[in-house]
Amino acid sequence: MYKDNNMKTLVFATNNEHKLSEVKNLLEGVIAIKSLKEINLDGDIPETADTLEGNATQKAEFIYSRINSDCFADDTGLEVEALGGEPGVYSARYAGENCSFSDNVNKLLNNMKEKTNRKARFRTVICLIENGEKHYFEGVVNGTIIEEGVGNMGFGYDPIFRPDGFDVTFAEMSLDEKNKISHRGIATAKLVDYLKKKNL
Ligand code: IMP
Repeated sequence: MYKDNNMKTLVFATNNEHKLSEVKNLLEGVIAIKSLKEINLDGDIPETADTLEGNATQKAEFIYSRINSDCFADDTGLEVEALGGEPGVYSARYAGENCSFSDNVNKLLNNMKEKTNRKARFRTVICLIENGEKHYFEGVVNGTIIEEGVGNMGFGYDPIFRPDGFDVTFAEMSLDEKNKISHRGIATAKLVDYLKKKNL
C-alpha cells in the first residue's frame, strides 16, 4: 500500500499526462494520487477490449497485478451519433496505430463532412480496484462536433467538441472549467464521493 504524508494513496493507471493533471486537480486534498511514472512503472498498458468498461478493467487489473496496491484506470471514448457511436472505444487509434491527436481530429472531421446531425458525447468509465474489489464510475457529457478545431488547451478531440450549453469548445476552457462539466470530471466526482463516504 502506497502512502503519501499519511494520506490514503491511489495509483492512477495512466501514462497520459493530461489526464493525470486533470484527475490530480480534482482529487486534491481528498486523496493522494501517484502516477505510474512516480512509482517507476513504465511500459505500455494493454487495452484490447471492445468496450470502455472492458478497457478500464483491463488497465486497472494489469497495474493491480504488478503493484498489489489500490489503483484505478479510466477509459474514454468520443461517441458520435451520425457515425453510429464511432470512434468510441477506438478513439485513441481512430486514424491508425501511433497516430497523433490531429490525425484523429482530421479523420473525424472528414467523416463528418456533409453530416447534419453533429451530436456527440464523451463517455468515461473509471474502474477502481480496492482491496481486490472492483467499483465502476461513469461520466457523460453531451455536445456537438464543430466544423473545424478551435482553441489550444486540453488534448485529443477537445478543439472540435463544444459541450451543450456553452459557446466554446473544451480546448477553449481552462482545466478547472473543463473539469466542472466534463465526462472525466463527472466520473471522478463520483469516485471522490465514494471515497469520501468511506472516510478514507
Ligand atoms: P483513453 O483510451 O481513455 O486514453 O482515451 C482515448 C482517446 O480519447 C484519447 O487518446 C483522446 O484522443 C480521446 N480523449 C480522451 N479523453 C479526452 C478528453 O477529455 N478530451 C478530448 N479527447 C479525449
